Amino acid sequence: MCGIVGYVGSNKTVDVLMGGLRRLEYRGYDSAGIAIIDSSGVLNTAKKAGKLSALTAELKAHPINDGQTGIGHTRWATHGAPTDGNAHPHLGDNDKLALIHNGIIENFAPLRDELLAEGFTFESETDTEVAAVLLGREYQRVGDLAEAFRSIVARLDGAFTLLAVHQDQPGVVVGARRNSPLVIGLGDGENFLGSDVAAFVEYTRRAVAIGQDQIVTITADAVTVTDFDGHPVETEEFDIAWDASASEKGGWSSFMAKEVSEQPDAVANTLRGRITDGQVVVPELTEFGDDVLAGIRRIVIVACGTAAYAGQTAKYAIEKWAQVPVDVELSHEFRYRDPVLTADTLVISISQSGETMDTLMAVKYAMALGARAISICNTQGATIPRESDAVIYTHAGPEVAVASTKAFVAQITALYLFALHLARVRGSLTEAEQAAQVAELQAIPEKIQAVLGVEDEVRQLARWMSDTRAVLFLGRHVGFPIALEGALKLKELAYIHAEGFAAGELKHGPIALIEPGQPVFVVVPSPRGSAHLHPKVVSNIQEIRARGARIIAIAEVGDAAVLPFAETVIHIPLAAPLFEPLLAVVPLQMFAMELAIAKGLDVDQPRNLAKSVTVE
Ligand code: F6R
Repeated sequence: MCGIVGYVGSNKTVDVLMGGLRRLEYRGYDSAGIAIIDSSGVLNTAKKAGKLSALTAELKAHPINDGQTGIGHTRWATHGAPTDGNAHPHLGDNDKLALIHNGIIENFAPLRDELLAEGFTFESETDTEVAAVLLGREYQRVGDLAEAFRSIVARLDGAFTLLAVHQDQPGVVVGARRNSPLVIGLGDGENFLGSDVAAFVEYTRRAVAIGQDQIVTITADAVTVTDFDGHPVETEEFDIAWDASASEKGGWSSFMAKEVSEQPDAVANTLRGRITDGQVVVPELTEFGDDVLAGIRRIVIVACGTAAYAGQTAKYAIEKWAQVPVDVELSHEFRYRDPVLTADTLVISISQSGETMDTLMAVKYAMALGARAISICNTQGATIPRESDAVIYTHAGPEVAVASTKAFVAQITALYLFALHLARVRGSLTEAEQAAQVAELQAIPEKIQAVLGVEDEVRQLARWMSDTRAVLFLGRHVGFPIALEGALKLKELAYIHAEGFAAGELKHGPIALIEPGQPVFVVVPSPRGSAHLHPKVVSNIQEIRARGARIIAIAEVGDAAVLPFAETVIHIPLAAPLFEPLLAVVPLQMFAMELAIAKGLDVDQPRNLAKSVTVE
């Protein structure tokens, strides 16, 4: 949801900014732009609607002068269509100041009216330009960017990260942050700002996260962070755990293909360091306190999209192993009702980016009501883990493709580790039972690797179905959230109408959708592990088959019962029931990706989407 990069230093600023934007493009790709103060002290900008490649072409056709100070932006449009004019940067102070923005300034309309009444004019329909003009007006009064920021931030409602440069202050980039992400990269004789560390990981692996309501000033040699009142604040440096190559395609046709294939590692790396002698000990939770965990009476999971489906999947394991009731809520629904939370409620947020505004607001709200909060997050230094009492990082590595894949399996893995840690602390599993679950978890990377082998089969299926207009997904128990996730992947990647249902719900209405030829994916529970559920799902298959549905079953190797009724069976290795989702989701991800490819779509950057949704 808008990527931001800022730079001061002696490298080629155009290259630093464009490289940063390339790595941040997953955040938004409606338009892109840069502003650079050139070596003669003049502010130059270039911006273009469309993907970053359009700006690259523009810069090739009309190069701008380079300098040592610049800012760059990739946009996910909120206010104003994705046009050249609405692209950032926006200008203020007689075109001497350039500003970029991630977030939404909710009160931009009255501010704009105020500025119009004073005779200022606007070139765009954006809320951002209002901030640029306001900042420019303030700069004229105080003559210093950081000072000007300090006086305007109190007037802005909403969420924002703003970065600005002014040609009268070359060698300085100033940023202000409220509820949208911003991270500092510390270099040698150069410093960086970025929406996340991907913006500058090519140049440095030393980073500093900036807190809420803070203003940062970078020069080539110094970094200063203050609160909105100008008081210096303490910051904490961290090392970025991955290098630049992890966020490169590295020979794959797409980030999505690469990330699907990285799932065995995503699970293995998330397990690493958290299992000792067959027992789960998550070090981050020991700091949280065993007595506190043992006293938890209820868990509420808040998340959105794929992350919420990871929560829905893990609910079954947490309740079974730790015997604590779990509710899974969409963050935006949770936040705006009146949930009953007590001090013995634990709120677990799940977020790949750690920046999803809906989830951040839900966490803050829950904590304000007295609940404790743990975050499951894939992005170091992100806002949600910083706001929470504890964090269990998933170690999936950077996820660049907009549709989430490897983060999903890593989230389930982290939640299972949490569940086993909790079960140990609460004594709800014996050591032997715990060790058996741990062994299942440890076997997952190899089993996912085996599932990846169905690629050709899935590709053929996708080609065969490339004209399909609607697809249904059915699952039961832990297979239900996987059906929902399969449908979401297909919607967002292949733009095909898809719905996921609990198989048991079918006869309560959705079966009316079945007509001859309707493709239906069914996640079939294991006949061994789920002996009571398996026949019921097979009956569901028969019911829809009788009405002409074309069944594609995801079933355990050796499940003979589905063979007579399914057009296609995609086999997954044997696993205990609670672990099947980690395997069954993989062919569904691959199917959505292959169908999108068969339709000639961009699987990494589906239309209208952004990876990190930092507006509510
Ligand atoms: C779907 C997808 C989204 C995200 C959701 C939450 O493929 O990527 O549904 O899962 O926007 O994002 P995070 O996990 O960053 O909070």
